[in-house]
This record gives sequence, C-alpha cells and structure tokens, in this order.
Amino acid sequence: MHQYSCQAIYVDINGERQQVTIISNCGSLLIKTFPNDQQMVYLPAGSMDTILHFGKEIIENEEMYTLDLENPETQIKVSFLLSQKDYQELQNQLRGKQVFFRSQNPRILAQIAPGIQLIQTQNNVMIEKIAPFPKTMNDIASINRLGQLKQEADILSLLKEHEHQNIIKLEEIETDNEFVSITLENCQGGDLLKLLNKKTNKINESLIMINLLSGLKHLHELNIVHRDIKLQNILFLDNQNGNTLKIADFGLSCFKQQIPYYNPRCGTPGYTAPEVFAQQCIYDEKVDIYSAGIILYNMLTRKNPFGNSKNIQDIIKRNISGQYDESHLTNVKINNPLGYDLLIKMLQKDPRNRPSANECLQHPYLNLENRIIDDDENQNNKDSQKRNQVSKRVKI
Ligand SMILES: Nc1ncnc2c1ncn2[C@@H]1O[C@H](COP(=O)(O)OP(=O)(O)O)[C@@H](O)[C@H]1O
Ligand SMILES: [Mg+2]
Repeated sequence: MHQYSCQAIYVDINGERQQVTIISNCGSLLIKTFPNDQQMVYLPAGSMDTILHFGKEIIENEEMYTLDLENPETQIKVSFLLSQKDYQELQNQLRGKQVFFRSQNPRILAQIAPGIQLIQTQNNVMIEKIAPFPKTMNDIASINRLGQLKQEADILSLLKEHEHQNIIKLEEIETDNEFVSITLENCQGGDLLKLLNKKTNKINESLIMINLLSGLKHLHELNIVHRDIKLQNILFLDNQNGNTLKIADFGLSCFKQQIPYYNPRCGTPGYTAPEVFAQQCIYDEKVDIYSAGIILYNMLTRKNPFGNSKNIQDIIKRNISGQYDESHLTNVKINNPLGYDLLIKMLQKDPRNRPSANECLQHPYLNLENRIIDDDENQNNKDSQKRNQVSKRVKI
C-alpha cells in the first residue's frame, strides 16, 4: 500500500481548530501538527484496541467529514475535519486494516451459524463474523471466541497484503465498544463436507488438493500455520469449480514462532497431527500437511480414518496413535496408486518424513500436466473426449 497524506483540521475539546497532516502507511496513521511537524497521534497497524470512526454527516458549508479517533483504554478522543475526497481516500486506504471505522448497520439476510451471518453491504452480499466483548471476566466462552476472532482478524489483515486465490478474502474489520466484526467474501459453494455429502457429486480430488496445497504453501511461506484444516473450513466460492477453493477459519492460526505461546494444544480431533498430542507439544507447519492428508483420505474413501465413533475419546485415542484405518484404502491402492502414495506420505507420523506443501505439489498425482488439463476443463466444455481420456490417466 502506498503512503497517503492529506491536510485536516484538528478540533480540540474547546472547539478550537488547528491544521494538521494525516499520513497513512500500511494501515498505520500518523498525525502531525502543522507547521511544527510535531508528532501528535500515532496508531500502529497492529493496534486492536484503537477505534477509528469515520463520521457520516457532511458539514454542509465546509463540505467536510469528521474523522474521530478514540482509544477505549485511555478514553482519549480526538476529532478531525477532512475534505470529502480525502475522507474517501483514507477510508479506501484503511479498508481491512486494523484501524477501525463503523459503516452503517448492514441488512442481515440470513443467520448461517452462531455469530456468522449473511449480510447485504452497499455493493455486495458478504459474510460477517461477530464476537461481542464479554460482559464479565468469568464468561470464558465469550473471551475465547473474542480471542479467536481477533487472531483471525490479525492474520487475515496480513493476508490482505499478500493475497492468494485460495485464501478467504477479508473485506473489513470493524469494532466499537460492544463487538468486533469481520466481513468476508461470501463462498456460495458451501464447504467441502457438504460437497462430499452430496452423493451425486463427482469430485475432482486432485484439483481440490492442488488448490488446498497451493493455499497452504502460501501460508507456510509467510510463516503462518493454520492449525485447523478440516472439511468444514474449506469453502468454495462456487461449487462447480475446484479452482475456487478457499481456506477459511483462521481462528486458531498463528505465526510459527507463536506456536508455544498461543494455545499450542489445539485443532479438531480426527484431523490433528499426532505430534500436537505429544507431551512436549513441539510442532511446526507440517501439522497442516497431516490435516490435508486426512482430507485426501476423506475424499478418496468417503470415510473417516479414525472411525465414526460417537465417543470422541475413541477418535482422539486413534488420532494420537496416528493409526488410520487401512482397510478402506485397499481399493484406492489398486485404482489410484498415485493418490494412495501421496496420502501415505502426508500421513507420516513423524513430521520430518512428511513432505512440505511444495513437495506435495511436485508429486506425480498433482503434476503440472494435471493442473493444465484441469484449467482447460474449467474454461470450456468442448473437447470432452480428450478430457475424459486425460482424467482417466490422472486417476490411474
Ligand atoms: N466466507 C464464508 N462464506 C460462506 N460460508 C461461510 C463463510 N465463513 C464461514 N462460513 C460458514 O460458517 C461455518 C463456520 O465458519 P468458520 O469461519 O469456520 O467459523 P467457526 O470458527 O465458527 O468454525 C463454515 O463451516 C461455513 O459453513
Ligand atoms: Mg470452522
């Protein structure tokens, strides 16, 4: 993001006005008095506690908007007057950054899950995830939920600077004294679990793996570990096309260096890499490869590798041992030896023997020829004969 600066008028508590310069760079705001050039307010990009409120009303004669900054901790509030042009540019510059502005209350179209709703914004239908600030310190569930949403906002706002087609796109982060909300692109294609449950659906497993691993490769290159890869967190912008796969739900994600300090024993039973359960609980991004391996198992067998027991302890016990059910793989081994080979490698119990996302992408099951052919497949429906031949070749 390039640097943007504009002139504004600072209004003090007595209503007196002073000219200042507002400089915005990478989501941070620096406000300098004019002409002394003395620093007045600095809002770092990572400051989750800062509320930035773009006033809506235009001050008629002056054609100015108000920009209010308030910090709930210090209770300091300062107001600025900005021209309409600068107000709009700053609003664009700060979209999805960790400085906040309120927009008008969006229209709620549907409730998707607790705290997740489909909303109509000015131009688009989007998804909003909300967490209220807990009323008491004993409300552990709300505290955890808020913590996860803040973490998700942190990671997604970094990913906004490093976009990838297989990572869910953040539109906005908003907060006031009552809640934190993030707005995301709407994935109408639903999640991978739903896709697998539609028995009629033919799934291109290798294309899904290419897109999932491309997203993971991107995350891992940025030192981000997702830590909760599972069918429900893999979404599709449109369900006809594996190339629209989006990795979502960054509530348990963190940077590799943060793992020991940020709730290390986390994940979803049945998808978690065995080293997460180990006593020392030392692990790295290879945990995501293991979980992606479970997804490959789910797709190739339509079964869960650690069984369907109602007793979660049974699943956890098998998950800890890393001993997946091999009986479901007999047919896969014969009909799809390349898929089987990649699966076995991704589910290695020792993370050192597990390939990286990049190494998985080099595997013959997901080779370049396959990718080019699948791209063709998505672009047009002609030449179907050739395509059938090719997809047979891929699924040896
Ligand atoms: N951007 C989105 N588009 C469409 N559906 C979504 C989106 N985000 C979440 N959902 C739906 O809500 C479910 C829960 O969302 P998720 O981000 O995984 O939150 P949680 O932390 O509650 O698991 C997802 O499995 C998906 O079905
Ligand atoms: Mg989820």
